[in-house]
Amino acid sequence: MYRSAINAAWTDLSIEHKELSSRHLRELFAEDPARGNELTLTAGDLYIDYSKNLVTRDTLELLMALGRAAALDERRDEMFAGGHINSTEDRAVLHTALRRPPEDELSIDGQNITNDVHDVLGRMGDFTDRLRSGSWRGASGERITAVVNIGIGGSDLGPAMVHRALRTYSAESLEVRFVSNVDPADLTAALHGLDPARTLFVVASKTFTTLETLSNAACARRWLTESLGEQAVAQHFVAVSTNTEEVAAFGIDPVNMFGFWEWVGGRYSVCSSIGLAVMAAIGKERFAEFLAGFHLMDTHFQTAPMEQNAPVVLGLLNVWYASFFGAQTRAILPYAQDLARLPAYLQQLAMESNGKSVQLDGEPVLVPTGAILWGEPGTNGQHAFHQLLHQGTTLVPADLIGFARPAVDLPAIGSPATMHEILLSNLLAQSQVLAFGRTAEEIEAEGTSRDVVAHKIMPGNRPSTTILAPMLTPSVLGQLIALYEHQVFVEGCVWGINSFDQWGVELGKTQALALQPALTAAEDPADYVDSSTEALVSWIRSTRTS
Ligand code: F6P
Repeated sequence: MYRSAINAAWTDLSIEHKELSSRHLRELFAEDPARGNELTLTAGDLYIDYSKNLVTRDTLELLMALGRAAALDERRDEMFAGGHINSTEDRAVLHTALRRPPEDELSIDGQNITNDVHDVLGRMGDFTDRLRSGSWRGASGERITAVVNIGIGGSDLGPAMVHRALRTYSAESLEVRFVSNVDPADLTAALHGLDPARTLFVVASKTFTTLETLSNAACARRWLTESLGEQAVAQHFVAVSTNTEEVAAFGIDPVNMFGFWEWVGGRYSVCSSIGLAVMAAIGKERFAEFLAGFHLMDTHFQTAPMEQNAPVVLGLLNVWYASFFGAQTRAILPYAQDLARLPAYLQQLAMESNGKSVQLDGEPVLVPTGAILWGEPGTNGQHAFHQLLHQGTTLVPADLIGFARPAVDLPAIGSPATMHEILLSNLLAQSQVLAFGRTAEEIEAEGTSRDVVAHKIMPGNRPSTTILAPMLTPSVLGQLIALYEHQVFVEGCVWGINSFDQWGVELGKTQALALQPALTAAEDPADYVDSSTEALVSWIRSTRTS
């Protein structure tokens, strides 16, 4: 039943796409002057203007029909209730349970998991209080002044992005660093200048089998024990994982382990104990505000009518661009330097989730699915790649994210505006120029010589969504992340794919293990699968020994 309803909605949208192809945002705004006010959403503290997207009100109705045909409401409720919607791994998808208030019980297989979540949060709070107050001491009695989070993927990108975003809320007495890459340069740089007696490592890995993380953790452990001895590990290493056995096998006492559950996907885990390093930096009260922000957006997603539901509207627009316009990428442009790692974080969230080419039943997808996300903070990106956004031949829908008030502002020299006001005026200008551009007539009227006019034309009609919030607080950050999490969910439902597995990264891991002997064995192995790999290995071997 769903399939035929989806096909019908899809056909209507294909016709709509053809019709809209000859229209320009300039015309759409002239025809419908209220759209700037009305094609907007309010979700928690976020004000979202999606009026500069390539849609009319009719298009929006058709997109809603597509969402209804995909049974978005039912699928969402199934996720929140703990249905095993991650079908290829037979798992529930319950990151939303990590941010439920204590009284909001959720029973899965007879177990109140809200209690479990708050038990761990309580232990994290006690531990980080001790760390922050200085009552947790290192093996030689020194206060801990540096925390190094060792993890990769979701066990790094989330805490690293959030730590940076909330750096103005962080305790100055505790420096937090992150190591992810198995490239030894990463750990070496992270340990530079640190005193083992004052350093605590958080080994963050859902599976506790990830090669990069275990390699870095083993090296960190050697660095520590070489100066403080084996018995120091207990006071200087804690683990965040779902795998007690492997944590114990590594030599970390499970007493110093903060658990989470298999129903939390790695890229959805920042509000689990994977956020321990963040809690150490900002404290348990601010971390609770961060979780409350997520919960606010979860509630909005569960209760707001489809037309006013921010993740639904934005998720459907993402489908519109990827599947109908063939837009292969989307730009994430935070006008906030503190959100510098947001594009990288959202890359994992969106691309590991929806970079899929088979449907739930294993049949190939018939339309383009997940887009490539990329971006840099504004205004830096303006001086690097915005040229292509404005005048290139590729359609790149963009999200511009800004805050009315900064954590810190500075007066600008030679301007009545503050630096933050200059930043915001750039955000506004970019969204305006992307949408409306500049015509040949306008350029000629400025007296530009004829042979340069064509080069100066700004075509406009480039879609963008502007997401504003009062200030980048822990709560607002939680709302923003949840807004993107749920968009990914909406897209996955419409495309009929499993957004919660990631089989595509597994083969690379096993091949890397298989190729290690080619670099380490004394003899060059004779047999390779292909001539390119053989030539590459041979070049590396000879260059390393020459
Ligand atoms: O690379 C795939 C992946 O499984 C991610 O999904 C995950 O976030 C990352 O590896 C790290 O996994 P773990 O937390 O188990 O070390």
